[in-house]
Amino acid sequence: MLTNLRVWLNHFEYHAEQPRGMAGGSMSGLRPEERRLIARSIATFQLGEQSDGSGLQRAACRFAAAHGDELLPRITELFIREEQRHARLLREFMEEQGIPAKCRHWTDRIFRRVRRLAGFELYLHVLITAELIGNVYYRALEAATGCQRLRSLCRTLLADELAHIGYESDLILEMRAQKRPALRVLLRLTHRAFFCGAAGAVWISHRAVLRRAGYTAAGFLRACLSQYAFHLDPPAACAAAAAQSARRR
Ligand SMILES: [Fe+2]
Ligand SMILES: [Fe+2]
Repeated sequence: MLTNLRVWLNHFEYHAEQPRGMAGGSMSGLRPEERRLIARSIATFQLGEQSDGSGLQRAACRFAAAHGDELLPRITELFIREEQRHARLLREFMEEQGIPAKCRHWTDRIFRRVRRLAGFELYLHVLITAELIGNVYYRALEAATGCQRLRSLCRTLLADELAHIGYESDLILEMRAQKRPALRVLLRLTHRAFFCGAAGAVWISHRAVLRRAGYTAAGFLRACLSQYAFHLDPPAACAAAAAQSARRR
């Protein structure tokens, strides 16, 4: 059984009732050259945020039934709703600015195919990959534009995504702590390799925006890996505490 699900349920229920608002008042729009720079990039991220979440919900229910984590299905439902809200906020912004939506993109197809391969634990690894890279991307997008409306949107999304990363990393670290050391190392290396590949794919597709924010390819990979290290490679003391709490159950 996972330890902190009650805390996360409280978190997601609170934000379902009080979603983070966008700053009000008059907001400057996108300048034409900014619109050209970000249109395809933001449409691809909007596509990534958009999902009915049925595969994730099924995987969470199966995992919950197998491990007695009865709060997990409700948390997952609220989590999916929050992601759908992100897709809606981005879509509204795009409509206001006359940016067409995308129906498909190769990076989105890869993420969706990998997620379908297995259960809840793999879902979490794929999700946190997208969230950690998205975290770097939304900061870059905010830095790349002078449009107040878009900057406010990026900050709203970032605040939610940071909580999602906290939730997913909490579950991943606890699951990892329950595994044998050799398997733990293998999983971590495999995930890091997948993570680097995904960051490379995001660089290829979004490099115009990322360059405008001041990133080189190597700098972007470094920023993504430092997010990875911060959230998924905690100091040995934290990992030991997680392993101890896993053993106690
Ligand atoms: Fe999101
Ligand atoms: Fe998220």
